[in-house]
Amino acid sequence: MTTRITIRKPDDWHLHVRDGEMLKAVLPYTAKNFGRAILMPNLIPPVTTTRDGIAYRERATAALPKSSTFKPLITCYLTDDTDPNDVERGFKEGVFTGVKLYPANATTNSAAGVTDYRKIMRVLERMEKIDMPFLMHGEDVDPAIDVFDREAMFIERYLSKWTRQFPGLRMILEHLSSKDGVDFVKSTAPQVGGTITPYHMILTRTDWFGWGLKPYMYVMPVIKTEKDRIALRKAATSGEACYFLGTDSAPHPVAKKLALNGIPGIFNAPVAIETYARVFEEEGALDRLEAFAALNGPRHYKLPPNEERITLEKSPWTAPEEVKVAGPDERALVYRGGETIEWRVVEG
Ligand code: DOR
Ligand code: ZN
Repeated sequence: MTTRITIRKPDDWHLHVRDGEMLKAVLPYTAKNFGRAILMPNLIPPVTTTRDGIAYRERATAALPKSSTFKPLITCYLTDDTDPNDVERGFKEGVFTGVKLYPANATTNSAAGVTDYRKIMRVLERMEKIDMPFLMHGEDVDPAIDVFDREAMFIERYLSKWTRQFPGLRMILEHLSSKDGVDFVKSTAPQVGGTITPYHMILTRTDWFGWGLKPYMYVMPVIKTEKDRIALRKAATSGEACYFLGTDSAPHPVAKKLALNGIPGIFNAPVAIETYARVFEEEGALDRLEAFAALNGPRHYKLPPNEERITLEKSPWTAPEEVKVAGPDERALVYRGGETIEWRVVEG
């Protein structure tokens, strides 16, 4: 039985660290074990211009522990009015790693997202021309569509068309949550890649509300069925280059998670790489963890893999239940908080 594994330092290709005091409280958890992370732009207000991107990168860099080598990667929040020239400038100047689509009202802080896809065609054309990655929250939020079918319908109605319309546009369907999503990415690779969270590989909707309602398991896209969970595990551990690590760690003040109209997002950064290691071990695929966590993502983003290494050891510890945040936000609940975590990062 393997009890120790050394891999290249992983990257997180989908991460929310927010701003202000929350940023200071949560970013160190990712910076400890990851070389880089794509920081999501759904702040209030969102990061919609190169200027916003530069400022956010500075705030994130200032929130890093001293001597950290972690590199924040910034994305541009796409709106109906995004200027293709500004997007190109941000990419060419190394500010933006990609552009992120939030369909309006699909999730947390997405009210300023895209309301009409005809309005973003000029931006997509420009991104195809300059080979700039297009990151997607891939859900169709037409009220007529069942919440469990949003990912599949987004693919059917929009994404499948865009892959043909923009064959040179590199895309990432983020936080894959369904067998349909997994299958679509494989069928369109290498043009489309997909990130997979740790919790979509562990939880089902039965865990979420089958035995009492667990508000902290509420995320977008919603956690789905056992069939979907199995498909996601098989995909992540397959070694296929089109699947890579993206935690979608998304901290919220606890009161917002527990409110009558609760807010989606699971804060998993404190247990992220350890939880992926557990899944890969359960699937008998620890030898493929490095590809998923540290090689496939950089290849898709056309960036070099990290040179540093981290070592994980099978040595149980207890995850903290919450992380304290200064000011009115107070604290964020931690995914798997209070549980025994099987793997531990011992060198990194
Ligand atoms: O559950 C989610 N939370 N899904 C998202 O797409 C956004 C995220 C957040 O920002 O809290
Ligand atoms: Zn997200």
